[in-house]
Amino acid sequence: MGRHAKNDQPSNGTTTSTAPDSQINHSAALAYWSSTEPTVNGVLGGYPEVSRVDLQGSNNFLAKLRRGGNAQSSLPAPPRKLRRAVDCGAGIGRITTGLLVKVAEKVDIVEPVVQFTDVVKGQEGVGEVYNIGLEDWRPRKEGGTEYDLIWNQWCVGQLTDAQLVAYLKRLPGVLSVGGWIVVKENLSTSGEDVFDETDSSVTRTDAKFRALFEEAGLRLVKTEVQKGMPADLYPVQSYALQPK
Ligand SMILES: C[S@@+](CC[C@H](N)C(=O)[O-])C[C@H]1O[C@@H](n2cnc3c(N)ncnc32)[C@H](O)[C@@H]1O
Repeated sequence: MGRHAKNDQPSNGTTTSTAPDSQINHSAALAYWSSTEPTVNGVLGGYPEVSRVDLQGSNNFLAKLRRGGNAQSSLPAPPRKLRRAVDCGAGIGRITTGLLVKVAEKVDIVEPVVQFTDVVKGQEGVGEVYNIGLEDWRPRKEGGTEYDLIWNQWCVGQLTDAQLVAYLKRLPGVLSVGGWIVVKENLSTSGEDVFDETDSSVTRTDAKFRALFEEAGLRLVKTEVQKGMPADLYPVQSYALQPK
């Protein structure tokens, strides 16, 4: 996700001539995250207090999505839980334990850093744990894995634009009919994507996200800005997507 704070943007962030995402280096990103303490403070880059408001906002967003479900949907109707969800780029499972296990029977985890997933592995409601980057994750329907909800938060900036589109294109293959892909990320407000060398990630603009979703063949079902975030942080936006 890069740093949260807007004023942490590098001063030359908007003048670089190379595409910001071309500077992403996965080894550097993993070196950074592997040396980060496995706590909420660690995965949120020093703003642990935003977690509660973030989880509350996500819970509301999801409740609205579920209420708006359509007749073709294969999803269990509320108040029944979703069957299976997956927390992608999950870190220590902050969202898994704070939200997803409450709304789904089983939650799988995709996260490259083992010392993060060690925190959440084996907890109630946690299913498979895949220690791999999203760019390398090849989820398959064989064995009955199908997700009602695929949650991606504060992690897709670790992927280049091309990797993100390729990843998003793979997801409908394991998404239930009527299920959602949620992307919740910081937004760049400078008019351009911004590279952050701290964790070797990019912070994208809203326009870039929408263009990449379109390129991946996904339809934007619902989008919302997270309310109640401190004013000195990047705005945070949730996007719910379905295959076209
Ligand atoms: C800012 S933390 C967010 C963690 C979690 N989503 C949350 O909101 O609490 C970013 C996470 O992305 C993970 N990450 C780094 N590179 C990744 C990649 N290529 N694919 C998936 N996750 C990655 C990091 O290890 C870290 O756990």
